Amino acid sequence: MSTMMAAVEKIERLSVHDLVSDRELGRADVSLILNFAERVKATPGSFARALEGRQLALIFEKPSLRTRVTFEVAMTATGGHAVYLDHAKPRLGERESIKDIAKNLERWVDGIVARTFAQSAVDELAEHAAIPVINALTDTWHPCQSLGDFMTLGEKFGRLKGLKMAFVGDGNNVCHSLMMTGAKLGVALNVATPAGFEPKAEIFEEAKAIARKNGGRIHLLRDPAEAVAGAQAVYTDVWASMGQEFAAHLRTQVFAPYQVNEALMSRADGGAVFMHCLPAHRGQEVSEGVMDSPRSIVYEQAENRLHVEKALLILLLENGRH
Ligand code: CP
Ligand code: NVA
Repeated sequence: MSTMMAAVEKIERLSVHDLVSDRELGRADVSLILNFAERVKATPGSFARALEGRQLALIFEKPSLRTRVTFEVAMTATGGHAVYLDHAKPRLGERESIKDIAKNLERWVDGIVARTFAQSAVDELAEHAAIPVINALTDTWHPCQSLGDFMTLGEKFGRLKGLKMAFVGDGNNVCHSLMMTGAKLGVALNVATPAGFEPKAEIFEEAKAIARKNGGRIHLLRDPAEAVAGAQAVYTDVWASMGQEFAAHLRTQVFAPYQVNEALMSRADGGAVFMHCLPAHRGQEVSEGVMDSPRSIVYEQAENRLHVEKALLILLLENGRH
């Protein structure tokens, strides 16, 4: 066994076989992933052969810059290899059943990363594949994003418990993941959305109860100014997510008062950071000025996607090995 693998052997195990959403991760899992990601970031050379000989399938129904590149680079940088499968057309399940895709892929590769419209597609892959399945964004969740974001906030503030955060805009997949993983970390999160664009009620209620147990809180508000008052991190995302382009015009009108601009940032804490999962629509959900300001940590977030995904891959693919 190589020195690299010996280092990996000493890592604790995750309680999950897959990462289908933020829901299944326990508090200890979240801490393990974030701590391990810091280790991987600090000493990338120690993990240069951690996934030697391992193969990963990347299935994407939707476009991607960050997620595709970071997963491909993560595999190459740890000695493994990724195979990209463009599933924009046909979508998963159209040419053959999702069950059969899972049953084929498990014969050739060691893990599946999937970006799909329906959450049920990722759930079904995980149900039928013996190998780990990682959610690379669905209409409902984006767990790799929230993990990278909390890693970034941890680096910035040195602690996450009690950290005051505001999410302003659409109660979408990124919002769900931030609420659910944030709840496990005990953050104090205000979510401000227009009426009718709130996060899913059952996800909000579940996250709220978990937050309470962990010394955090989640509040749902209407007024963006109220939501960001005193916040140490202000987060926004696009007003029309992938698949909602048909409604972009209407959404631009509804969401206009939710733009994160200099005026809104001035209501947050003096040291507040600006966050966005990207891609950003400059001049819509965020002003050019805020996006390019020293407060903006959007590219740190993007960088940390790489480190957190390396950590996830090593933890999940190694779990399946023993
Ligand atoms: N934030 C994010 O997931 O970016 P991509 O859509 O480019 O992968
Ligand atoms: N909410 C956005 C996130 C993109 C990373 C979308 O789903 O398009």
